[in-house]
Amino acid sequence: MDIAELQRTIEQDIASIKSEADFRAVRDRYLARKGGVISNLLKDLASAPLEERRTRGPALNSLKLHAESRLEAALRTLARRPPGDALDVTLPGRPPLLGHRHPLTLLRERIEAIFLRMGFLIVEGPELEDDYHNFEALNMPPEHPARDMQDTLYLASPIPAGERPATLLRTHTSGMQIRYMETHRPPIRLIAPGRVYRRDGLDLTHSPMFTQVEGLVVGEDVTLADLKGTLVSFARELFGADRGTRFRPSFFPYTEPSGELDISCVACNGTGLVPPKAGTTGTGEGACAMCKGTGWIEVLGSGMVHPAVFEAVGYDAERYTGFAFGVGIERLALLKWGVEDIRLFYENDLRFLEQFPL
Ligand code: DAH
Repeated sequence: MDIAELQRTIEQDIASIKSEADFRAVRDRYLARKGGVISNLLKDLASAPLEERRTRGPALNSLKLHAESRLEAALRTLARRPPGDALDVTLPGRPPLLGHRHPLTLLRERIEAIFLRMGFLIVEGPELEDDYHNFEALNMPPEHPARDMQDTLYLASPIPAGERPATLLRTHTSGMQIRYMETHRPPIRLIAPGRVYRRDGLDLTHSPMFTQVEGLVVGEDVTLADLKGTLVSFARELFGADRGTRFRPSFFPYTEPSGELDISCVACNGTGLVPPKAGTTGTGEGACAMCKGTGWIEVLGSGMVHPAVFEAVGYDAERYTGFAFGVGIERLALLKWGVEDIRLFYENDLRFLEQFPL
């Protein structure tokens, strides 16, 4: 057998040793006194002609020594290796993944902080509501066409709850105005955040479930100026002091007069024109898609509390005045962060949610 070739094979076998069992197998294959490849070759050599013994003897002997020392080294390496289940205490720790609250929660807390600073109380109410609190006491008797403004999800069967069984999922947080006034006297300054439900499909701007914040202020000299002052400072705190605001007349059965607060369009900055492409000056072609060319975006509904609402809760409508408002948190979120699809807020895709550390 060619000694150089044999040496290569031995090297390969030694290099592949992974365990003590491997080590023993390789050692025995070549060096076992009985049947080891090298041992056999040395034995054969003893009976070979003198010439062959002279040439092959020293080469075989040094191969044997070489194999022994390489095997010894392999055994030392094995001994130094930690067992497979060993714990390497020198590895740096894996930091736990830190999450954060959902962007809609973060925004709700931001809104709450703004109103808390203005002295408002935060209250919450039931999502399962009765017809009286959701509609009737808010000056929307049965058959009132204003009920059509909100397509309602009714329960298959009423759920017992206090005096009046719940028959629907609340379509807005306005029922909390009634619930709170029924059990408290003025002065009142509150916001009521929470989920509301409507029979809507899910598209870019609609969802059958969304979140609102209701506001109610009642006292002896509460005026439209208070409403405007409060809501304009709220919009400025949330969207920046340079964001334009305006009030536009509107209609809600539970307020008179009613108005909607608009802010100057966040996409075109109130110009009504397609925003210029990044890096260019001037404006683009045509009307801005976000505000449909008007330069304004609606953010909330509001008004002076209707006397019929005060009468429903037993307040003296001659003595007390007040204002109320209702704002959709998702709507504010879309505007504030330039998100184009409301569904992103409900899909729990971390690639989206992780962009809101605030
Ligand atoms: N409830 C209305 C809605 O869901 C919003 C609203 C408008 C609330 C005017 C109010 C208000 O308190 O005064 O669209």
